[in-house]
Order: sequence, then structure tokens, then C-alpha cells
Amino acid sequence: MVHLLDVQSSNAKIQTALPAGLVAVFVGGTNGIGEAALKEFARSARSPRAYFVGRSQEAAARITAECRQLNPEGEFIFIKADISLIRSVDDVCRELKEKERTINLLFLSCGTIRYGEDTSEGLHIMTATAYYARIRFIVNLLPHLKHATSLRRVVSVLAGGHEGPIDTSDFQGKNMSVLKLRGHVVSMTDMALETLAEQAPEVTFINDYPGTVKTGIGRDPNAFLTWLMTIALLIIGPLIYIPIRESGERHLFFATSAKYPPRAAVDEAAGVPFVGEIVVAEGTDGGIGSGVYSIHWDGEHTGPKVVGLLSGMREQKMAQKVWQHTVTEFKRITGSDVA
Ligand SMILES: NC(=O)c1ccc[n+]([C@@H]2O[C@H](COP(=O)([O-])OP(=O)(O)OC[C@H]3O[C@@H](n4cnc5c(N)ncnc54)[C@H](OP(=O)(O)O)[C@@H]3O)[C@@H](O)[C@H]2O)c1
Repeated sequence: MVHLLDVQSSNAKIQTALPAGLVAVFVGGTNGIGEAALKEFARSARSPRAYFVGRSQEAAARITAECRQLNPEGEFIFIKADISLIRSVDDVCRELKEKERTINLLFLSCGTIRYGEDTSEGLHIMTATAYYARIRFIVNLLPHLKHATSLRRVVSVLAGGHEGPIDTSDFQGKNMSVLKLRGHVVSMTDMALETLAEQAPEVTFINDYPGTVKTGIGRDPNAFLTWLMTIALLIIGPLIYIPIRESGERHLFFATSAKYPPRAAVDEAAGVPFVGEIVVAEGTDGGIGSGVYSIHWDGEHTGPKVVGLLSGMREQKMAQKVWQHTVTEFKRITGSDVA
């Protein structure tokens, strides 16, 4: 476990270990874990520029004001968009690419518990926000991440460690239980991140499980899940909740620590050098520092069971199958491989 004190010491070094002017994009920064991570980034980075994406203008106004207070030298720019639509993701990315030449950090925490409905583009809403939109953001912004000096990183907040079998007859997860869907999407994410790491070995990719954090995730209408979560969390929530500030601190650590280097050993992209007892993490293939990481809320690797499961998937050429499906969906919806 990475102790909170080590997380905090590492984050305190961002000011000196990383250059001024880092550019970050927080997709899902208007609430919950994304908001908490954005605020820690504002608190810790020197003259950063952070874009944050969501639908709530009201939340954005509040968060912009708070971030400016935390860091008067930073720039905090809201982009309003419904990212469950891939065409809308493309619009956001075009705007970002017009404004920035490079991006250091892409932080993806957009998500919903809405289930069993399709977007107007024919994607299952839950997988649209948890998987398709996130992968489209990465694909579109990958050249900007690759060309960044210093930090180059993608963090997807999902459920690292909760990998399960992938059902190739139902990639969107329209006909499976929510529990099965979680494992399915988490493994699809690992497979897609591994494919992207082949294209961009100088970029780090992280799929993390945030633990149980009291956020707005239950606010979307989903009769069964909302009911289940409300009852369960009323009883056990106070015993297991990770405080939102700690979640923000831990996610900033995931986003900046040299514990998670890219596959190609590029020193300048490695991140904040170690403090305390921190060591380089194992990647999804079981290799030390291998560039794609599936991690628990405490920052540690998810263990041999997940490595074994993913290894079996690679033998079945699952990464290629997932990628083929994903780009086919992107092409169907937008007509192009990239925005
Ligand atoms: N909280 C937990 O205990 C927990 C546990 C395990 C996994 N996770 C996962 O962690 C991720 C983050 O969850 P959270 O707890 O931080 O949730 P949250 O508080 O509900 O925040 C979700 C963020 O995503 C944005 N978003 C959702 N749908 C969107 C859309 N269609 N277009 C644009 N933005 C959209 C929301 O912004 P707007 O409302 O402004 O649109 C908000 O900023 C999710 O994938 C969740 O499944 C959370």
C-alpha cells in the first residue's frame, strides 16, 4: 500500500520536480473524483492550465472559482459537453487541439450508473461513458500526449483489479448483468490501453479502482442500482468510504508519480521521483514498469490473478478483437478513425 503520507509528500514535490505550465484535461471534472483530482492538481502544480469537461455549468462556475483561489497563477477552463456522444467527444478534442500543442495529462472519470438505454448514436449509455468516450478521447489526443515534454500520462478511473471475462458477442454489454458488465468493461479497457501503449510507448496508461468514495455517481436514475447503492452505503458506507480529499490526493499521485513510468524508459516522462517506500509498479503484463497499470485504490498492482486472466486473453488475441470492434464503432458513428 502506498501510504497517504507518501502520497502527500510526492504531491508536494510536483512544484519542483515537474515544470511549470503543465497542461491537463479532466473529463468528468465537474463532480466527484474528477473534481477532487482537479482541485489537487490546481493546489500542487506551478502555473498549470487545466481544461475540465462535463455538463453542469453551475458546478463548473463554482469549481473554476475554487481552483482560481487555490492557484491564482493557474488557468481553469470549462468545456461543456455531453461526452456520451462520440461526435461530441470529437468536438471537444478539436477545440483542445486548436488551443494546445501538447497535453501532459488526460484524466478520465466520466461515468454513469444509467443502464439499459442507448445513446442517439446507438451505444449502451453505461459503456459509452465508461469506455467508448474515454478511448476516443485518448485516440484523438494521443499525438498531443506523445509530444509533451515532461509528464505524459492517461488515467482512467474505473475499476482496476475487477477484471472479468470479455463477451465478444456483446461488447457493449447490452445483455449482461451490471456485475458482469463491470468486469467486462474493465478488461476491455486494459486491452485497449495495451494497444494504445504499443502506439505510444512514451505515455503511461493507468486503469484504477478508486475504492468507495461518496460522490454524485448515484444521482443518475437507475431504479435498481440507486436503490441497492443507497441501502448498502447507508449501512456500510461510513465504514469504508475513502474521504473525497484523500481520493483527489491519491489520484493526483497516480497522475504524477514515477511509480508508474511509461513502457519506453523516457526519463523526462517518468514523473515525480520516489519518496518514502515507493517502488516501481508492476504492469498489466506482470512486468515491472511496463507502462500499462491496473491498480487498486491504494496505488498497488492488482496481483497475479489479474495478470493471469489478461495473459489468457492475449493468447486469444483479445486485444486485437477489442480494438477492431472499437474502431469499427468509431467509424460507424463518426465516419473517421480520429477527430
Ligand atoms: N464513487 C465511487 O465509489 C466509485 C467506485 C468505483 C468506480 N467509480 C467510477 O469512477 C468514475 C467517476 O465516478 P465519480 O464517483 O466521480 O462520479 P460522479 O461524482 O458522478 O462524477 C462523474 C463525472 O462525470 C461527468 N459525466 C457523467 N456523464 C457525463 C456526460 N454524459 N457528459 C459529460 N460529462 C459526464 C459528470 O459531469 P456532469 O454531471 O457535469 O455531466 C461528473 O463530472 C465512474 O466511472 C465510476 O463508475 C466510482
